[in-house]
Amino acid sequence: TDPIRLGIAGLGTVGAGVVKIVQRQADLLAARCGRPIKVTAVSARSRDKDRGVSLNPYAWEDDPVALARRADVDVFIELMGGSDGPAKAATEAALAAGKHVVTANKAMLAHHGQALALAAEEAGLALRYEAAVAGGIPVIKALHEGLAGNAITRVMGVMNGTCNYILTRMELAGLSYDEAFAEADGLGYLEADPELDVGGIDAGHKLSILASIAFGTQVAFDDMTLEGIGRISIDDIRQAGDLGYKIKLLGVAQMTGRGLEQRMTPCLVPASSPLGQLQGGTNMVVIEGDAVEQIVLRGPGAGEGPTASAVMGDVCDIARGIILPVFGQPASSLKHAPAAMAEAP
Ligand code: NDP
Ligand code: HSE
Repeated sequence: TDPIRLGIAGLGTVGAGVVKIVQRQADLLAARCGRPIKVTAVSARSRDKDRGVSLNPYAWEDDPVALARRADVDVFIELMGGSDGPAKAATEAALAAGKHVVTANKAMLAHHGQALALAAEEAGLALRYEAAVAGGIPVIKALHEGLAGNAITRVMGVMNGTCNYILTRMELAGLSYDEAFAEADGLGYLEADPELDVGGIDAGHKLSILASIAFGTQVAFDDMTLEGIGRISIDDIRQAGDLGYKIKLLGVAQMTGRGLEQRMTPCLVPASSPLGQLQGGTNMVVIEGDAVEQIVLRGPGAGEGPTASAVMGDVCDIARGIILPVFGQPASSLKHAPAAMAEAP
């Protein structure tokens, strides 16, 4: 059987993790996907950096757009990051050249998801992004597939590993904000611009993507009520603890009679609740639907292995010939819902 050929742009935390899985699990992937998975070409800024994995078998492209257009690439994997710039240019080039795309880039999808989805669907191509929301948790798949028979009433959860890591390390280990931040950095959790993490923006990007799938609306990141963890002090965390609460950066999206309500803000949650007990880089997504009532998904929300795991799940689906509408229904049918002002939690 012909292999499915990957071109990977971005060889940092996630990209190197993807190459490692392709190399380590070649037999398992071929058996599960029905055809071999092969990397043909890669791209990053620096050709000389040691990435902890052999890149010798692969062609090198300095320019990710050139990589996206290569004749020997079937699936372009965008793992550079950034809402615009090379990530967007290369993704557009890949779709224009007839390549399927897998990305972990929630910033790009939050800002350009609708246009990219239209381009992919018009060309009959897959645009997959499981890794973009909640790292290793297959939440996009859950919404797209397992919960397709539900009218979703609410999506909520903790969706940024960095913030949850910092808050729990400050609380449980008595670390300063800076010490906890440095640990999160060492674990590969941070965005290239960490203000996206601590400012709540990254988690907001993720919530806006989930809301689009859940409610059949265009991604509406700009309408979100947003606040990060920058104003949370160790004293706030201690006082919340004394009252039996934890502070979490919590996202909630629901369709109300007034329109789509989306908020990502620090919230008090009961210490004994599942959300209150969430520690480190772990994420939790709670989905409520009219038939299923409530499901809770919990797992690692960031880092090399979990994120690469999600990327490979998407690659496998494409190798199996599965092409779904990008946001759960044709992008041309997604409405722009009016924004409802968030009410206090
Ligand atoms: P890194 O910063 O670790 O890696 C980014 C990679 O992109 C680097 O290899 C870099 O090259 C390369 N790159 C950047 N700009 C260019 C360019 N202009 N041309 C070619 N290559 C370029 O990021 P991550 O791996 O952490 O994140 C990648 C994506 O995955 C982002 O969209 C992020 O939001 C997302 N993501 C990350 C998660 C995580 O836990 N880290 C989890 C979920 C999603 P070089 O190495 O040479 O500098
Ligand atoms: N910076 C992100 C986080 C990576 O900390 O959750 C996973 O999307």
